[in-house]
Amino acid sequence: MKNVETKITEAVKAIAEELYGQQVPEGMVQLQQTRPEFEGQITLVVFPFTKMSHKAPDATAREIGERLKEKMPEVISGWSVVKGFLNLSISSQSWISLLRDIYENPKFGFLPVRDDSPLVMIEYSSPNTNKPLHLGHVRNNLLGWALAQVMEANGNRVVKTNIVNDRGIHICKSMLAWLKWGNGETPDSSGKKGDHLIGDYYVAFDKHYREEVKELVEKQGMDEEQAKQEAPLIKEAHEMLVRWEQNDPEVRALWRKMNEWVYAGFDETYKALGVSFDKIYYESETYLEGKEKVEEGLAKGFFYRREDGSVWADLTGEGLDEKLLLRSDGTSVYMTQDIGTAKLRFQDFPIDKMIYVVGNEQNYHFQVLSILLDKLGFKWGKDLVHFSYGMVELPNGKMKSREGTVVDADDLIATMIKDAKELSADKVNKLEGITDEEAQEIARIVGLGALKYFILKVDARKNMLFNPEESIDFNGNTGPFIQYTYARIRSILRKWNSTIALSDTDAVKVELADKEISLIQKLQGFETAVRQAGQDYNPSCIANYCYELVKEYNQFYHDFSVLGEEDEAKRQVRLMLSAAVGQVVRNGMGLLGIEVPERM
Ligand code: ARG
Repeated sequence: MKNVETKITEAVKAIAEELYGQQVPEGMVQLQQTRPEFEGQITLVVFPFTKMSHKAPDATAREIGERLKEKMPEVISGWSVVKGFLNLSISSQSWISLLRDIYENPKFGFLPVRDDSPLVMIEYSSPNTNKPLHLGHVRNNLLGWALAQVMEANGNRVVKTNIVNDRGIHICKSMLAWLKWGNGETPDSSGKKGDHLIGDYYVAFDKHYREEVKELVEKQGMDEEQAKQEAPLIKEAHEMLVRWEQNDPEVRALWRKMNEWVYAGFDETYKALGVSFDKIYYESETYLEGKEKVEEGLAKGFFYRREDGSVWADLTGEGLDEKLLLRSDGTSVYMTQDIGTAKLRFQDFPIDKMIYVVGNEQNYHFQVLSILLDKLGFKWGKDLVHFSYGMVELPNGKMKSREGTVVDADDLIATMIKDAKELSADKVNKLEGITDEEAQEIARIVGLGALKYFILKVDARKNMLFNPEESIDFNGNTGPFIQYTYARIRSILRKWNSTIALSDTDAVKVELADKEISLIQKLQGFETAVRQAGQDYNPSCIANYCYELVKEYNQFYHDFSVLGEEDEAKRQVRLMLSAAVGQVVRNGMGLLGIEVPERM
């Protein structure tokens, strides 16, 4: 109702000037949404005008109301005064014209992105290459993707990025185990996804390593800490890392080969989740850049070197502690890598805002990183956003992997799709002429919709339990419930199978019911929900908005006929309303990375 609100504001100003002979200052006209227990939709706060009118609030309200109705009869269909508030009923025509605007604008609620729009870089996913993605990564990827869509819908240029931790002791452990016990196994020879294959060798390393430690403790009486360092396997892994750092061709070749397997596996998972990146960075390419940046900071006196040669940042002035940036042997730490990555990213893109989607166990790391980047002259460093999210777990005993620690992302996705298929078997089979492929595709959309919506509707900062059964329930605040409503709308429109057309002369004849008006208001609220989600970096706003909209549509659908309505103009309005709800639901769910099916 923005244009209606502007019109009313203008009219109220003119009326006050005409009645009281005074200029109305900016901000004096305050419009609110009318409280649901009163008639009307827009309320004027009258108190400020009593200073001009020298009359009681109610009398002032009445004279403004009367004049307003005279002045704009096509907009104001009625008014009433409640305790000094002027409640205005907006005409059906104005609501219908708003509905038409929404219906005719496929990008309703989205701000345009221009070449000079702010550039927001969003980093998410950021896995290590020694094991497959797990449930925590699923939450990360879904949040990162949704946040990217939300930021773009708010008129930002968005670059989605990923920093893959492809180097270090963890990947050497997998490599070593593969050399020792792998017998040349490959993803092809074993039929395993590459990331799972490497993950299995990481687990194998750990198993043998623990055995070695145990033996050193039990047979040689070593203390545990010492045994962990002295175990031949870990020594060998460290030697391998040194050879990697020295660019040993054999080690590098093996490292490249095994990482390629992992990337092929990750790509499959990303594809299944429906996420992608504009630019991927690798730690192996950024960690040396970090070293240079730290040397630079050292030269400028931001950092200091200790006697053993290690480099530190003293953040005690900022209320934090002292932070190691380079070890005494000159090797980098996690923080150094992040500084290097920041440098490369800023070389590649004119970043205005940087958002890191990383779990809340790294809150401190990003607090420190922000200060360091700021010191080093990154203009976006100080205000970097650590989009910090909580843990996600499954109810006890569900889908734990072999080691019993994490829930594998691929297994989870497959299970969701299978459950969707079983659950909807009755419904889907009833769909006329449905092919196996179509049924499978619907199961994929619904299974993933259930998973994504359940995770995204929750405030990201909170720890959560992912409950597969609850998530896939067709009733309640779930993805499938929303998807089902969408499919129902599509089915109505297919049955109509004709254009939706409402002439202005027909439109003026239609009197809307309260529920129809409130549904149009709800539709309009999409714009607010998208703005809010962008301001607060909060995709759950969109999820909850979609749920509210769909609930309200279902009530409307329950109370009114759409196709069965005999008055043609009314029928057209209801079709338009249904189509607009469908479109907003599809766009809203789209922001969350959730697809909607044509039928289900
Ligand atoms: N790879 C890291 C981990 O698994 C997360 C990286 C987060 N991003 C960053 N820029 N530090 O813990």
